[in-house]
Amino acid sequence: MPGATATGAPLGEPTYGGQLQDRALAGATREGLIDIAWTEVSGRYPDGTRYSLRRPTYSVGSPTAGPVSPAVLLSARIAPPMTGMGLLEAIPEAKIVAAADPDDVNTDGISGRTNRVWDDTLGAGVLGRFGWKAGQPTVRQQTVGAMANDMGFTTPDQPDPCHGQGSACSLSAQPAPEMSATDLADQVFYNRTIAVPIARRVDDPSVARGANTFVDLGCAACHTTTWTTGHDEVVGLSDQTIHPFTDLLLHDMGDGLADGRPEFEATGREWRTAPLWGLGRRKEVTGFDSLLHDGRARGPEEAILWHGGEATAAKTAFVGAPRSARQDLLAFLGAL
Ligand code: HEC
Repeated sequence: MPGATATGAPLGEPTYGGQLQDRALAGATREGLIDIAWTEVSGRYPDGTRYSLRRPTYSVGSPTAGPVSPAVLLSARIAPPMTGMGLLEAIPEAKIVAAADPDDVNTDGISGRTNRVWDDTLGAGVLGRFGWKAGQPTVRQQTVGAMANDMGFTTPDQPDPCHGQGSACSLSAQPAPEMSATDLADQVFYNRTIAVPIARRVDDPSVARGANTFVDLGCAACHTTTWTTGHDEVVGLSDQTIHPFTDLLLHDMGDGLADGRPEFEATGREWRTAPLWGLGRRKEVTGFDSLLHDGRARGPEEAILWHGGEATAAKTAFVGAPRSARQDLLAFLGAL
């Protein structure tokens, strides 16, 4: 709903809470389903090649606990990739903050902003890193939130699965959490240490040219190619040179991608630069080639064509590039 909680988090819908549960455990009832209406919008590159993008419109179908508030702000999200999470967590906060350029002082048209979010463990506002709007500070808090909201069970960090949910949430607080502290620690360790797939075909001339095109078109202005992690208790995450292709900052991506739903300091037009490592393996791993926050893009080419706002110059450069250069760029992305 419009507004925010005392910690700056998005306000839940009065009945359904912060997340619509479209599945339920045996014996329970799902809260509803999301209906998606697609509109195909076709376009043409200057060289005549055609493309088509599908624009989604979302609504809640068959809500089971009464009507959804007409003032609700709906934002659809797909599950983000899980590789390299601990490495992203190990990038020192000061380096990310130093890379932000909220007032576009360097006048490159790109003003990366940090999100400041609530850390439940520290009870304080900290840098947001995870999620499509950088709304989560740590892998642990993201994991605990997913346990409650996606899976419906309790952890030592969040004993009440109805926390932040609407009044329709009827699971009462359990006497003891369903997951032990040890199991939660193991789960967080696992989530932090899922390895990033190695880039392939790096000697292929098209892939090599595409790596340069990526920089030349201005993609790397947001999709930062290289970071060095700081100290981490896990040796494999500590002091590593990594290539996540993200600045972990928020960018206005234009009307086309705007969801109109703020999250902490992220506006309804801003998204966190999506990491691109492992991009070429995404379909193999998940079975889908859906990209962008709501999965509307059917592969990397459509994802680029949806870029707007601060990324307009890069998108325009891609559209205007010779067909061979576009193919090289896509070969590079497919090899990540
Ligand atoms: C102004 C910053 C910015 C620039 C410049 C930019 N991007 Fe992005 N990119 C983003 C953001 C933010 C997202 C996430 C948008 C969303 O989910 O709606 C994204 C998402 C993507 C995705 C989808 C990744 C996924 O996991 O869904 C791809 C692929 C991508 N960008 C490639 C590129 C390429 C190639 C270029 C250069 C032509 C480029 N981007 C330029 C900010 C930028």
